[in-house]
Amino acid sequence: MQKIRSEHLVPYARLDRPFYDQSGQLLIARGTRVVPPMIAALDAAGITEGVLLDHSDELRVLQGQPRYESRSIRTIIPGQIITQSMFDEQGNLLLAADSVIPGSLVETLKARKVESVLLSKEMDVDRVGRFSDSLAREWARNLDDQIDNSSIPLAVERKGVPTARRMRVWRGKRRPAVELSRISQRRDSLLSETEEILDILQMGAGLKRGRIERIAEQIVDLTCDDKDVCLALASFPDAGAALPRIGVDVSFVAVAMGLMMGHNEAQIRTLAMGAFLHDVGMLSVPAQIVEKNGRFNRHELSVMRNHPLNGLALLARVPDATVETALVVYQSHERDSGVGYPRAASGEGVHDYAKIVGIADAYHALVNPRAHRDESLPYDALANISKMSGLGMFSKEFVLALVHALGSFPVGSWVKLSTGEVAHVVGVSPAAFDRPKVSVVLDEYGVALEEPQVLDLTQMPGVELTHVSAPVRFMDNPLEAF
Ligand SMILES: [Fe+2]
Repeated sequence: MQKIRSEHLVPYARLDRPFYDQSGQLLIARGTRVVPPMIAALDAAGITEGVLLDHSDELRVLQGQPRYESRSIRTIIPGQIITQSMFDEQGNLLLAADSVIPGSLVETLKARKVESVLLSKEMDVDRVGRFSDSLAREWARNLDDQIDNSSIPLAVERKGVPTARRMRVWRGKRRPAVELSRISQRRDSLLSETEEILDILQMGAGLKRGRIERIAEQIVDLTCDDKDVCLALASFPDAGAALPRIGVDVSFVAVAMGLMMGHNEAQIRTLAMGAFLHDVGMLSVPAQIVEKNGRFNRHELSVMRNHPLNGLALLARVPDATVETALVVYQSHERDSGVGYPRAASGEGVHDYAKIVGIADAYHALVNPRAHRDESLPYDALANISKMSGLGMFSKEFVLALVHALGSFPVGSWVKLSTGEVAHVVGVSPAAFDRPKVSVVLDEYGVALEEPQVLDLTQMPGVELTHVSAPVRFMDNPLEAF
């Protein structure tokens, strides 16, 4: 264990050991390049010193230290701001953290012949909070500057081999059950790994970028393997653990959009990383706000609107996160017309990946229930997104990518055909996004077929989709009709 002053951290050097504060809260993860904003954030949070740990055992020693440290009254200087709460020897609170030390207090203590006071170590937890907060603000300011002086390209140029080239297109009738369960198992394991990652971030630990890269790669592979099944899974409402599903399912939708837009392999993986992490800041929003059934008050609204910045603070624990990932975390709630947050940035001031993820996230939010509303059917969710695009919130080009990926009757929708039959949309090709592949489950008399029958409407010019139907057999498994 090596004690080190924050100002002695070498800018741009990579830490070979994790840097903790005195109470055992992680400040900077191992492998992170120490950039000047981090040093500035430590300074702003009043963290002048920390320790570099060699072994995890040392962390236990740090965290096991007494909750209070004794300080001589001579070191308590009137007029300074105290960063830890101050107690007398009996444990009575003398002064709360963040207060200016009044001269009268020091006088009184001296008059009572008090020689030392206790300073709470608990406040160190709060200092970490303020460190993260200052770091996020510093990082955001940096991103704003780079956007303002155009040193980060925000538009993603189409170049190289489009990843869509390696998309598998399902040409058979129904997919074999084993194939469907293979895909849903792979998604399940992604979900449980995501849960683990969110736990790690919430506990304040660092995360290797490689781990996020591997997940992003799996999301891209799975979407290329069977985009339609991934989108049907992502479009299926679920009241269960929300945040891991947002990470994985929004990534499926965003990646499918990126595929439609012709992004190359490196671009699509970067997009997937951003999409996967875009909502981590929600870890900082208390459950009673997330689950509130009713309008937010001003305080709740500001907590909610701060979550992209908290996302940046958490992202600081992923060493070497790319600038694109940071921009997606920071900007995916911005809207083209400038009605988003946290900066009300608009149009060309928002990174393309943040725009894609913003649309994918909005779609995913609509098809899932919230405390104050039911879920929308995929078709209605898509109609809603188009309406928002009409209001200038989302640019048409990006919404079109969503329509190409999902189809104008989205994969996972129930539809009525001009023949009177009822079917489930199980596939769409971008070249004919209004003539999907459907799986008929009810005949024209409303009688269930023994075995769903897959029809490719591109091959059946006489058959039309007339309207959306309510879900027929609202199944636990959205892949039953595939
Ligand atoms: Fe969010």
